[in-house]
Amino acid sequence: MNVGVAHSEVNPNTRVMNSRGMWLTYALGVGLLHIVLLSIPFFSVPVAWTLTNVIHNLGMYVFLHAVKGTPFETPDQGKARLLTHWEQLDYGVQFTSSRKFFTISPIILFIAASPGDETRDCVDDITSGATRSVSASCNNAATDFARERTPLLATVIHEEGIIYRVSMLILNKAAGVFSKPSRREIYEFLRSFNFRPGKVFLHKLVLGIETSCDDTAAAVVDETGNVLGEAIHSQTEVHLKTGGIVPPVAQQLHRENIQRIVQEALSTSKVSPSELSAIATTVKPGLALSLGVGLSFSLQLVDQLKKPFIPIHHMEAHALTIRLLNKVEFPFLVLLISGGHCLLALVRGVSDFLLLGKSLDIAPGDMLDKVARRLSLIKHPECSTMSGGKAIEHLAKQGNKLHFDFKPPMQRAKNCDFSFTGLQHVIDKIITQKEKEEGIQKGQILSSAAHIAAAVQHTTACHIAKRTHRAILFCKQRDLLSQSNAVLVVSGGVASNLYIRKALEIVTNATQCTLLCPPPRLCTDNGIMIAWNGIERLRAGLGILHNTEGIRYEPKCPLGVDISKEVGEAAIKVPRLKMKI
Ligand code: KG4
Ligand code: ZN
Repeated sequence: MNVGVAHSEVNPNTRVMNSRGMWLTYALGVGLLHIVLLSIPFFSVPVAWTLTNVIHNLGMYVFLHAVKGTPFETPDQGKARLLTHWEQLDYGVQFTSSRKFFTISPIILFIAASPGDETRDCVDDITSGATRSVSASCNNAATDFARERTPLLATVIHEEGIIYRVSMLILNKAAGVFSKPSRREIYEFLRSFNFRPGKVFLHKLVLGIETSCDDTAAAVVDETGNVLGEAIHSQTEVHLKTGGIVPPVAQQLHRENIQRIVQEALSTSKVSPSELSAIATTVKPGLALSLGVGLSFSLQLVDQLKKPFIPIHHMEAHALTIRLLNKVEFPFLVLLISGGHCLLALVRGVSDFLLLGKSLDIAPGDMLDKVARRLSLIKHPECSTMSGGKAIEHLAKQGNKLHFDFKPPMQRAKNCDFSFTGLQHVIDKIITQKEKEEGIQKGQILSSAAHIAAAVQHTTACHIAKRTHRAILFCKQRDLLSQSNAVLVVSGGVASNLYIRKALEIVTNATQCTLLCPPPRLCTDNGIMIAWNGIERLRAGLGILHNTEGIRYEPKCPLGVDISKEVGEAAIKVPRLKMKI
């Protein structure tokens, strides 16, 4: 009988257990797995954390079975029930108590770490000079949370979880050193293996096409607001020469460029047309001839690719652009000021607008363009390639706004409507008079051109600011906007004017509102805003067409429900603000 007699054979498992290299490789392997999982964009820290353990345990489970032939049984079954803990491990038992602990603890910690920012705060505390008390207090936070669920859970976390928890938190922090690749980078990486994960991976991808006025633009945007590809062809220079937009010329230029622009947006995005979720195109409002080019091109593409079509309202797209950049919740107030439009609206949802006021005649950009043309700013060496509005802004910096006293329009009308034709006529008269005084011909540049530019810009800013002020007061009075956290979004070509923005800032400061403006390239017409509007509509499930029969463009189309009469009837008196700009 050999009971109690040692034999000289070395247990191979013990040899492995004693190998430092094996443990180092093991620790590095698990750490690496954790970091790799963390780098996947959709995985939060707790998800990566839990998956690391699940994958690790599954690996061990299969490994023990395949290599050592360990039966799939727990330590209280078979021969293993007679062994000590370490003997069980040595013997290759699948479910040792440590394995059970390591399997269950990440799941418990996942639940414990999910509720708030405490865990993240703990990581910061621990990694910036960890002390025992800090980690203990972190652990207590998790314990308190767990105690609400079951006392046993609390005990497990408190007694045994701390080492595991702290080491994982530090690992997470270490992983933060490596920047997380964007979805797009991962997408491109996968594409380099000829794998096309567009639909699954980037979820929603929309191609947006814009041709409502004088810009042929296209872009591909994903669900998270990543701009994957963009292209634009501006007709500004051509129209500057003809002294304004000539619709058949605009139509011809759209026709010549649309194919190339869409192709360019798609190819820079590296998205194949078959991966698109939908095609969104401006169909209203705008120049009939221009809208027609974009619509017929899009319908052909939709038919060819068998994709859903999303018709877009140009002003809705301008209004929603801000949500691609900032986390702006509905409702918010929007002021759209461009060459073709001028309106104030309350945005309550993706396609839920209340129109508070609009221009009764022309838009401010149109008026500025006309004034710039009348002043012949195209001949001015500093302004020859600028749009009218931009030229006025540029020249105004050199002028004195008090040199001329233009009265802001509609001073007595206590509503939120705008008017710019009257102001334009007054300026026209002044220019004619000055030309006479200076003895120069129409078409030559006046010596007082900069003063006129400064005064017209100031008057325009004051008019826009006053109407916007009233709209804010109306919305607050009717509880349509938050009293303390209201947001005013300003967009459209004229919104890139810094003087007008400053005037609006004075209003928002006085009314405790937040003023948000997209950057200039997103304020003017572009394909990104159309694609983003498509994403917003896809997400909300609004206006997605699978059959495009009967779809038409609409040159004129109001935005939302018009309550401007009600606003006028409220006759809100706007307090005077000092426009010190
Ligand atoms: O939004 P947009 O590109 O096209 C329309 O939908 O109209 O706006 C173009 C208008 C033009 O009238 C242009 O003169 C005006 O925006 N604009 C400006 C400025 N930059 C462009 N107006 C005032 N100040 C600017 N810096
Ligand atoms: Zn526009």
